[in-house]
Amino acid sequence: MSSVRSGSPAPSLYSFHPSIDERLVLRSVHGRILNSQNETYMLPADVEEHQRLDLQHQIYTLMLGDLYTAPEMVHHALRPRNDYQPAIFDVGTGSGSWALDMAKAFPHCNVVGVDLAPIRVTGPLPENVRFEIDDANLGFAHYRQNFDVIHARAISAGIHDFKGLLREFANALRPGGVLLLADGEMQLYDESKEPLAALEPGEPGFTWTQKVFFAAYNAMKNRGGCIDSPTLTPRWLQEDGHFTNIGWNKIFVPIGPWVETASPRERQMAEMMRTNTLTHINGMAPLLLSEGYFPETVEKMQREAAIEVQSLRVHLYSRWNFAWAIKAA
Ligand SMILES: C[S@@+](CC[C@H](N)C(=O)[O-])C[C@H]1O[C@@H](n2cnc3c(N)ncnc32)[C@H](O)[C@@H]1O
Repeated sequence: MSSVRSGSPAPSLYSFHPSIDERLVLRSVHGRILNSQNETYMLPADVEEHQRLDLQHQIYTLMLGDLYTAPEMVHHALRPRNDYQPAIFDVGTGSGSWALDMAKAFPHCNVVGVDLAPIRVTGPLPENVRFEIDDANLGFAHYRQNFDVIHARAISAGIHDFKGLLREFANALRPGGVLLLADGEMQLYDESKEPLAALEPGEPGFTWTQKVFFAAYNAMKNRGGCIDSPTLTPRWLQEDGHFTNIGWNKIFVPIGPWVETASPRERQMAEMMRTNTLTHINGMAPLLLSEGYFPETVEKMQREAAIEVQSLRVHLYSRWNFAWAIKAA
């Protein structure tokens, strides 16, 4: 029997947060939904975005050499128990690829994935995984001390109060449970791994790729997303007081195979990151248009950035932040 209650009485593929009905989706604008509070969310509404997330999932797995950081902590938290079935929570599950892989890797565990948008179901789901529609900004009052591992990856743009969300995660974890956080940055880095400045065309060091990423960063921030949280979470975890064994790591991945000394594995990752970045740039149009950019400005930024990335004219690094912690007893 499952040890994880659903937010809904219906044991269906999709269930709903108790209060999400009050926040019914009113309309869709450029791939975002507006709810009754006029809050806006980006949705991975189209197939291309879910395919990008599947690719990004493979990149994360290559970066870590596994599905997660802190493997000893994770294995300990998910060890088989006599009294209950261990449970895993994937918040902002996207295409569901991490949740599905975890369900296969830990068949004795229950896995719950939640997102504002449904996953794309392409085949039968493993019996130990369930997906729900839910908004992490509403908290998880219906999940108290339910989970042994909570995973939240690349969700900061959709979160209004990341510190508050960490408190929700602490409440949803069993004592001894593990929190796993991961996110890429919208800040890009030069070949010396120094952050690129926000420059205008004609200024030395200007790149269109940084310009379009910076424009998207500002748009996400203006929309209330906690877009700076990837670099701040280690401090917030310490300040929260509910966590011990806090650790973090930052991994640089080149955008495209421009590092001559790279190993075959690093080259493969860099190539995948180039594809990921090109799709990411391609998908930024709705966000930038809704921010008030003229369509021709958006098209130019996207076109020029894509040429830079495709041709390796600029040598750029992306940076990926990981943090983990144990819920104190
Ligand atoms: C960039 S995708 C990452 C998906 C997945 N975690 C991964 O790493 O492949 C961000 C996901 O977070 C979801 N998301 C954003 N804000 C959310 C919120 N407030 N509640 C639930 N899901 C949210 C989005 O709908 C999207 O599917």
